[in-house]
Amino acid sequence: MSLLSREIRANFEGHLKPGSGEEELLGQIDCQRIPRHVAIIMDGNGRWAQKRRLPRVAGHRAGIYSVRETVETAARLRMQVLTLYAFSVENWKRPASEVATLMRLLKEFLRKELATLLKNNIRFETLGRIQELDPSIQKELAIAKAKTATNTGLLFNVALNYGGRAELVDAVKQLIACKTSTDGSDFSINEEALASCLYTAGLPDPDLMVRTSGELRVSNFLLWQIAYAEIWVTDTLWPDFRMKDFFEAIIAYQKRDRRYGGLSSQ
Ligand code: FPP
Repeated sequence: MSLLSREIRANFEGHLKPGSGEEELLGQIDCQRIPRHVAIIMDGNGRWAQKRRLPRVAGHRAGIYSVRETVETAARLRMQVLTLYAFSVENWKRPASEVATLMRLLKEFLRKELATLLKNNIRFETLGRIQELDPSIQKELAIAKAKTATNTGLLFNVALNYGGRAELVDAVKQLIACKTSTDGSDFSINEEALASCLYTAGLPDPDLMVRTSGELRVSNFLLWQIAYAEIWVTDTLWPDFRMKDFFEAIIAYQKRDRRYGGLSSQ
C-alpha cells in the first residue's frame, strides 16, 4: 500500500460507522486516483421535507448535516477542490422566506464550522455574484475566506448566487475590460484567456459532477468547466447523502474510461 493510501486510510480511523459498509467501500477506492475536483448539485431538500410532512426549509436544515459530512470526507480523501451548488441566480424566484432561511443557514454554518475548517486545513471560497448578496452575508463570507486563506488542504467552494451563463457573461465583460485597458497588442481571445476570467480561474475543472435526487439536468452549473466531467446521479435526496454515497460516486467515477474525445487508453 502506498504512503498516500495509508495516510488517507488513517484519516478515516475512528470516523467509519461499524456495520455501515463504509469501510468496505473505502477499501474499493483507489487512493492514487481521487478526483481532483468534485462538483455537487445538492438537490431534493424540498422533497425530503415533503415526504415527512415538514416545511421545505426543514429539508435545507437537514441538508446542512450532509454538507458537513461531505466536506469532511473530501478533506480526508485529500481531494483538491469540492464545489457545492448552494444558491443559483434562478433561486431568487423562490418565496422570500425560503431565500432568507437559506441565507441564515449559510451564516450559521460558517459561524459553527469555521473552527472545523481551520482544524482540517480547509480553505473556504465562493463562486458567483457575491456582491449582490445582503451585506451581512458578504461580511460573514469575507471573514471565513480571510481566516482560511492560508490553509493548504481542501478548497471548499460554495456556489452562491451562481449561474453558469452569468459566469460566462461576467468573464466576457472582464475580457473586454482587459482588452480596452491595454493597447490590445498581445490580446487574443482563446479558451485559455476566457478560462482565466471565470470564477474558477486557476482551478482544475471538475472531474466528477454529482447530482442528488435523480434529476438528469445540469441546471446552469459550471457550464464551461464540466465539458469533460463524468456525471454521476443518485436517487438519494441531499439530506440523506452520506459518506457511503460519496464513496459510491468516487468508485463509479474510477470505473469510467475518460477519453476526452480521443480513443480508449485500454
Ligand atoms: C435544492 O433542493 C437545494 C437548494 C436549492 C439549497 C441547498 C442548500 C443547502 C443544503 C444549505 C446551505 C448550504 C451550505 C453550503 C451551508 P430543492 O429545494 O430544490 O429540493 P426539491 O427539488 O426537492 O424541491
